Amino acid sequence: MVKITYVEHDGERTTVDAQPGESMMKAAVSHGVAGIEAVCGGNCACGTCRIYVDDNWRAKLPSPGESESEMIDFCGDPDPRVRLSCQIAVSEDLDGMEVTLPESQQ
Ligand code: FES
Repeated sequence: MVKITYVEHDGERTTVDAQPGESMMKAAVSHGVAGIEAVCGGNCACGTCRIYVDDNWRAKLPSPGESESEMIDFCGDPDPRVRLSCQIAVSEDLDGMEVTLPESQQ
């Protein structure tokens, strides 16, 4: 199990036990994290699964692919830490990771 903590805009924290290989979006949704809406179900088409990842954890993530980059641009989120949680697979390297969620996803 990989522990990941999602911190909602209002400060509410949820730590989940995620399975390696599942997406960070699925790990959040299956544990009732309200701030991950994931309207498109993980198809990189809605931008409602955004997370903010600080630099120390960003270094452990693969760079965003073309579709993720395009959707991030489309969303117009000005925060440089933004990623799409549906496009990030959980791995053991992410154990202890903490991410924050945008104000628009509550
Ligand atoms: S769930 Fe829609 S873009 Fe991630």
